[in-house]
Amino acid sequence: MPAFSNPSQHEQSQQVLLHPSHIESAQFDPPLQLGVMASGRGSNFEAIAQAIARGNLSASIRLLVVNNPGCGAQQRAERLGIPCKVIDHRIHRDRRALDRELVHCFQAAEVEAVVMAGWMRIVTSELIQAFPERLLNIHPSLLPSFRGLDAVGQALQAGVKISGCTVHLVTEDMDAGPIVTQAAVPVLANDNHEALAQRIRRQEHRLLPFALTLMGPHWRQG
Ligand code: GAR
Repeated sequence: MPAFSNPSQHEQSQQVLLHPSHIESAQFDPPLQLGVMASGRGSNFEAIAQAIARGNLSASIRLLVVNNPGCGAQQRAERLGIPCKVIDHRIHRDRRALDRELVHCFQAAEVEAVVMAGWMRIVTSELIQAFPERLLNIHPSLLPSFRGLDAVGQALQAGVKISGCTVHLVTEDMDAGPIVTQAAVPVLANDNHEALAQRIRRQEHRLLPFALTLMGPHWRQG
């Protein structure tokens, strides 16, 4: 891995690594039918929608589910005209009840795979077993380093010089399922939490659509 003196050089190198043209042009007929889950800002959700709109991902987002009413992801869905349902975790008895509701919604929307794009709740076997090998999560670290909460803060605290992001299949062991793909991101000398989180998010926005294109043929075979 070459040493980069600034983030834009690093981004150019990721472009080559992440977008081999044969993957970028993969077409699915019909397009992949996706469900997305988000809790906050929703920039990864929008990155999937943009990749679809630009023709870089052969997919359709059938439903976004958010657990925080009025969150950024919900506002983005309204702007983009993508169906969005609010399932407020506070009104469900426990995690399993929340996940049963999620499964019900995604099955009714006839999705073939579900993406946790900034979903800040622990999920249970109710959801995981309903979508075997069809539930993806994006996490802001190079797993298996820095599992769990505040991965960006953990990386800064540890003093690592390279961090990144990971897309993986969700299993019952949190942030430990099979890795689909990863992108490395340098930690720069003057980084604070927001600067590093933002640089990682920029790579996430590229990585997540790429991961979906990688998984598509596997889902269509199964
Ligand atoms: C992303 O950085 C994602 O990796 C992280 O939350 C952020 C959501 O941003 N997810 C986790 O930490 C899950 N453990 P977004 O709402 O702008 O897409």
